[in-house]
Amino acid sequence: MSNKIEWDCPDFTESDINYAIKSLNFYIGAKGPNVELLENSFAKKVGAKYAVAVDNGTNAIVASCMVLKHMFGELTIGVPSFTFIASANAPQFIFKNIKFLDVDKDNWNLDINKVKDVDALVSVDVAGLPIDYDSLNGLGLPVISDSAESAGSKYKGEYIGSQCLMHTFSFHRSKLISSGEGGMITTNSKECYDLLKSYSNHGYDFNKKSWEYKHKTLGLNFRMSDVHAALALSQLSRLDEYVSHRKFIAEIYDSFFKGVIPIQKYNNKVFSHNYFLYGVLVENRDFIIEKMNSQGITIKSWASIASQDCYRRQDPLFSKYIADRIMLLPIHNKLKKNDAETVATTLLSLI
Ligand SMILES: Cc1ncc(COP(=O)(O)O)c(C=O)c1O
Repeated sequence: MSNKIEWDCPDFTESDINYAIKSLNFYIGAKGPNVELLENSFAKKVGAKYAVAVDNGTNAIVASCMVLKHMFGELTIGVPSFTFIASANAPQFIFKNIKFLDVDKDNWNLDINKVKDVDALVSVDVAGLPIDYDSLNGLGLPVISDSAESAGSKYKGEYIGSQCLMHTFSFHRSKLISSGEGGMITTNSKECYDLLKSYSNHGYDFNKKSWEYKHKTLGLNFRMSDVHAALALSQLSRLDEYVSHRKFIAEIYDSFFKGVIPIQKYNNKVFSHNYFLYGVLVENRDFIIEKMNSQGITIKSWASIASQDCYRRQDPLFSKYIADRIMLLPIHNKLKKNDAETVATTLLSLI
């Protein structure tokens, strides 16, 4: 067995697998019972009225952007530059103009005070830390919250999933709960829900008779299969357990790094972090990552999106500042206390 300390680690139990096998034997496609069960359970868990399961978190944003365009027409969409690239690519495929916005130097989320010249936003709960939703909604703009990383996080005591017009989630292998690939959109709007259902299933008119082909809108196929839904549904019951474990690991990291090197700052009376990611900022980042990777500790960096080759724009100040320094440390459902201590001491010895 390897002594490597992995950065992420999917966590499928025997009961998750058995549940998925049951679906594999009976349903397989998108019409089995687990898709609807997952949608209902997820909506209930996060306190949203509706949920639509899709095939991944990227298409969750694409479908939400299609809905936004249907409701409001052509818009300039603001996106924080410090995020995973899907937050920008998805609106870029649907709208003509996206604008990269800067993030806050301390909490790494979109700097709400600097939002200007946009009609709508794809905001992000970066690393799993919720954005300040009251301030965000104070802007009065339609918002798709890319909550891909924040399942199980809370804002003012409420799970993330009902604060904005639409929230999109990812069940990618690295996420707290996973179906291998998968995603979810939550909303309190019946209009959004109906459009999301239609756009993610070939634009079907749901008033049609079962044997008819009637397409109301220009849709695509973003459906989740029953097998994937079975896996995510089985995992959903352990979401809070996973958040607690990650908080436990984050507290170990905090005890080494607080006051020593910059970490993501937030007020824990308002924000509850699921610690999908734990990042630190260091000056000699690439040197440390190479050293740690060579010692069997997998570390990743991150990027500012604006300057990527597919956009070639200028990086906003703090997006670049953070992207140039960030190291993402191993944190996952199975990481042990002594492994976290090894990661922390190794890192500090290299600064
Ligand atoms: C912030 C963010 N947005 C979108 C995505 C895309 O999700 P997926 O990989 O499920 O397409 C991810 C993660 O993968 C993400 O971290």
